Amino acid sequence: MRTIALMNQKGGVGKTTTSVNLAAGLARMGHRVCVIDLDPQGHSSMHLGIEAAKQKATVYDVFSGQAKLVDARRMAAANLWVVPADLDLAAAEMELVDAKNREFVLKRAIREMVAVDPFDYILFDCPPSLGVLTINALTAADEVIIPLQPHFFALQGLSKLLQTTQLISHRLNPQLEVSGVVLCLYESGTRLAADVTDDMTEFLKKAPANAPWAGAKIFDARIRRNIKLAEAPSFGQSIFAYAPSCPGGKDYEALAGEVHALKLTNATADSETTDEPTTIPFSPPGESNSSEAENVAAEGNLADDARSAA
Ligand SMILES: Nc1ncnc2c1ncn2[C@@H]1O[C@H](COP(=O)(O)OP(=O)(O)OP(=O)(O)O)[C@@H](O)[C@H]1O
Ligand SMILES: [Mg+2]
Repeated sequence: MRTIALMNQKGGVGKTTTSVNLAAGLARMGHRVCVIDLDPQGHSSMHLGIEAAKQKATVYDVFSGQAKLVDARRMAAANLWVVPADLDLAAAEMELVDAKNREFVLKRAIREMVAVDPFDYILFDCPPSLGVLTINALTAADEVIIPLQPHFFALQGLSKLLQTTQLISHRLNPQLEVSGVVLCLYESGTRLAADVTDDMTEFLKKAPANAPWAGAKIFDARIRRNIKLAEAPSFGQSIFAYAPSCPGGKDYEALAGEVHALKLTNATADSETTDEPTTIPFSPPGESNSSEAENVAAEGNLADDARSAA
């Protein structure tokens, strides 16, 4: 199983479009995929045609200890599930502020789910912020993919994001690895996009050997600006259901193939257990049933540290 956080604190860079269409691309290849919508805007749920409904569990109910992921996940297409979110999830940020082990809620919930319902891929669509929801994603993930729009300030933003992954890797999740940067809304043929891409490639080459991004690359698949990608969400469809042969469909198909072919440096891909500290029993947020690692995490305010790193 691979668990991948699609993360960038900047808004509107293609996190949701990439979460949904990468997931759908992997599902089309025959893998069992689950998208966990961690954004109170609920965009990835809606993009996949799943509305959070009052009578059905959402990711908020998982964070508040009222439901299990396995009961909240909903089928969106063949091989593709989504755990929907809605505005209620914004309350989770507040409610978890003082909860002990708040960074580990999602990790434990996933461990419980995959024990009864295994997936090949779990993708987290993160909100554009570095609060407790994003920290939960980075704690539960083995891997980070950074969707990014190549523009003048992108390199500066990238270096801050990478510092955040370092902080999480030191304090909460030593397995965490940045596998790559996906260039979204790419304007092929422009000088700016090419220059920014070159600068980023050089920057990534200089990664310290022990940094979580030491093996990171810019994916060869560039996601070009394509109107069909912007239209597909309003039909509640991935690009493969809406317009599979458009440039957006081709780009995400290429990305799915490239992501699947990646071999992680930490070699956690396809391993069932190496990232799962089995000594941490499940306990709802607020209870003190914690491991040493979790206590260390709970004492420091990671969300604040991560924000100041950024
Ligand atoms: N390659 C693309 N071509 C055209 N439109 C795109 C492309 N990628 C994303 N969009 C559109 O750009 C907008 C922002 O994309 P998206 O919602 O994926 O970003 P995001 O990073 O998830 O945003 P947020 O930070 O608000 O969660 C959306 O309207 C989306 O449909
Ligand atoms: Mg989004």
